[in-house]
Amino acid sequence: MFSYASLIYCPKNEGDAVFKREFSAKAGSSLTLTVSALGVFDVRFNGEKVSGDILAPGWQCYKKRIGAFEYKIDNVRSDNVIEIYASRGWFSGRINIGYKEGAAPKHPTAIICEVDYVDSFGQKCKLVSDDSFMASAYEVVSSDIYDGIIYDARVKRDWSPATVYDYTKDKFTLIDSVRVKEHESVQPIEVIVTPRGEIVLDFGVNMVGYPVLNIDAHEGERVSLSFAEILDSDGNFYNENYRLAKCKYEYICREGKQTFKPFGTFYGYRYVRLDEYPHEYRDGEITSVWVHSDIERTGNIESSNELLNRLYENIIRGQRANYLDIPTDCPQRDERLGWLGDAQAFVKAASYNFDCLEFFRKWLCDVVLSINEKGVVPQIAPVPDRYANWQLAEAKAAWSDAITICPWQMYLTYGDKAILELTYDAMVSHVESMRRRAGADGLWRGDEQFGDWLGLDAPEGSYKGSSSDDVIASAFYVHSVNILTRVGAVLGKDNADYKQLYSNIRRAFVEQFEPILETQTECAVALYFGLVDNRDVVTDKLKAKIHSAGDRLQTGFVGTPYILHALSENGESELAYKLILREEYPSWLYPVTMGATTIWEHWDGLRPDGKLWSADMNSYNHYAYGACADWMFSVMGGIQPDELYPGYERCIIAPVPNPSLFHFKASYKSKHGEIVSSWRYDENTLTYNITTPVRSKIILNGTVHEVDAGSYEFTSEV
Ligand code: BGC
Repeated sequence: MFSYASLIYCPKNEGDAVFKREFSAKAGSSLTLTVSALGVFDVRFNGEKVSGDILAPGWQCYKKRIGAFEYKIDNVRSDNVIEIYASRGWFSGRINIGYKEGAAPKHPTAIICEVDYVDSFGQKCKLVSDDSFMASAYEVVSSDIYDGIIYDARVKRDWSPATVYDYTKDKFTLIDSVRVKEHESVQPIEVIVTPRGEIVLDFGVNMVGYPVLNIDAHEGERVSLSFAEILDSDGNFYNENYRLAKCKYEYICREGKQTFKPFGTFYGYRYVRLDEYPHEYRDGEITSVWVHSDIERTGNIESSNELLNRLYENIIRGQRANYLDIPTDCPQRDERLGWLGDAQAFVKAASYNFDCLEFFRKWLCDVVLSINEKGVVPQIAPVPDRYANWQLAEAKAAWSDAITICPWQMYLTYGDKAILELTYDAMVSHVESMRRRAGADGLWRGDEQFGDWLGLDAPEGSYKGSSSDDVIASAFYVHSVNILTRVGAVLGKDNADYKQLYSNIRRAFVEQFEPILETQTECAVALYFGLVDNRDVVTDKLKAKIHSAGDRLQTGFVGTPYILHALSENGESELAYKLILREEYPSWLYPVTMGATTIWEHWDGLRPDGKLWSADMNSYNHYAYGACADWMFSVMGGIQPDELYPGYERCIIAPVPNPSLFHFKASYKSKHGEIVSSWRYDENTLTYNITTPVRSKIILNGTVHEVDAGSYEFTSEV
């Protein structure tokens, strides 16, 4: 594409610039505009924004593809002007190049576009970006995803012809996927004066987006804001956990009334400190706007337990905040990266909460493109340049496995085979990369792993829980091969080799590791992946591990998504309920009792004594532990896709109620209609109310009821 167009940039500001071109067309006709950038762009046509897209065209594996967006514009005028604003974005901002001394962008921010329009004689014409476009530095002095924005409203534009940038056009490709948009606006709930005398606006929830300014000020006056997710135990502003990300918001006013909205950046925050402000803050001058991918909400949970309801709301908020073009680990500090481990831990919960098929199709395409020549699936995708060297050394258990786990979940939830086709070769490649690393007995040992990241049983000073790297690595290896065989069966591949491999390495795991499973995570993973022959023994061990820890979780990123399933699938739902409803530290509800509005990276991000986890790895918006929502839907509510009828063409509804709640309700909007599963305890009865839009198996306490679409009530004595 872009055969005739050139990339152009503005030598006066290689970071932020605006480009424009005037042209005549047939009044009332329509045109198609195709745009891309080495950076991110925003298009205005005759002064109006052509779309609500934010940070277009998003983040891809730029070494292989750079997205282009197409826009249709109707009813054009005879004299038109197209303007394109551009910033470094993910392409060459800090997020890609990092902060190491000397790190500098390799390319200027450049745009490329084509306009297919009709001229005043009715002839079809093509206008392309080249040095007939004018370019100027403009009010955005600098913008960067990590470092924020500096904007000088006094700057006058100074136009000169754009400069052509010599860069391959082979990578540009049209992308038509779910896009990043603005969502609701939030007003501050309070203006706080902290003990240190700082003026801080509290937006009530930890969110992602940006503040929009609406003030009356004098030329040269400044607004300078800082961002934070929490206040420290003294009530002071605290943002050391943003690490190197500068997150600036500096606005130099012109005279009079003005509004301002940042471009080329986003912030993760709840609190905004007014570092410089022209006058005393007046209500309505700063509003925050949510920004994230435009995914549609499909699931909901409500129960008689207010803290559980808030936990679920926090999970939803965490997903919205971290599904910003790609699934990220966190939205605030100097990461905001597509960590595969986090994505796979949360994918099942994610696919109940929101329709994320297209979101994952796009991201998985970039995961596939990020695989290296050795066939290794990375741990972050797209791989930022600054991590290119270590990222692809070898696969990392539970991180690289996102390549099997995520597409398989998409298939189960949405019945989409195309996503399996898209990723099948990559799954094979991943499995082969593990097979190469495995020993003669078929198990994967000895490689450096992230392990049970942030597990609470970590030795002092370590991020890694004490579960064995080798057990985790081998378990995920077997699990990925298992998924691969299922995918192969769906796609009609000759699978014999992988079936054999699965059976061999599963057996090796059972023989070598089953007897020595030690930690909560090791037991939970082995049980959930079906890697044990003596379920009762391992379940007892898991129970004993939980009890000896004081009925507490010790799991990290690897074990947490599975521990509740491992218990409830093995007759221990009572203990699973105990864990999910526990309020004291450590637990899912503990952060809720501490006022959390999102999911924390650490169980003890904010400790009971008010102390914070060290600033170097402490995000308050990391969704991984929110994976428990998949247990709420699939066990508490019992709503499960049927592997034989994927995409909820038929479904299984097998709720597991527990009297620690009076009532519980899960609902999920499948493409065939809404599934609702609720239960309620009254004095002597337990009543289930279930609605299904398709033929389903309702399983209550082991009894299977085959039902057609409809609403059903079941009652039993308690
Ligand atoms: C990220 C995680 C990620 C991990 C890998 C962290 O810095 O924030 O969420 O999965 O590194 O170990």
